[in-house]
Amino acid sequence: MQIYVTDQNGTEHELEALEGWRVMEVIRDWGLNIKAECGGSCSCATCHVFVDAEWQDKLNPPTDEEEDMLDSVPDYEANSRLSCQILMSEELDGLRVTLADSAK
Ligand code: FES
Repeated sequence: MQIYVTDQNGTEHELEALEGWRVMEVIRDWGLNIKAECGGSCSCATCHVFVDAEWQDKLNPPTDEEEDMLDSVPDYEANSRLSCQILMSEELDGLRVTLADSAK
């Protein structure tokens, strides 16, 4: 399955994703600019992405923990999510996200 990730320079990348992987891990392993400082434990917010409108409703809603972390990002938008909290599954094949500046 594939995900489409637009980096902070506006370039879109088509990345191969595996079921059960965190979207953050896919982005990081492909070498895009994502800090993901805490390694996926929902405690740094440096894996911040914006989710394309058509995909927002297909994701599980954020936990309170994720929402608390998102409160701390300077470039928060209504479609902000932490990519370490999105697990890849068949339903998310084709997911589109954009890397936030605060993920650098
Ligand atoms: Fe730290 Fe996602 S990698 S919150």
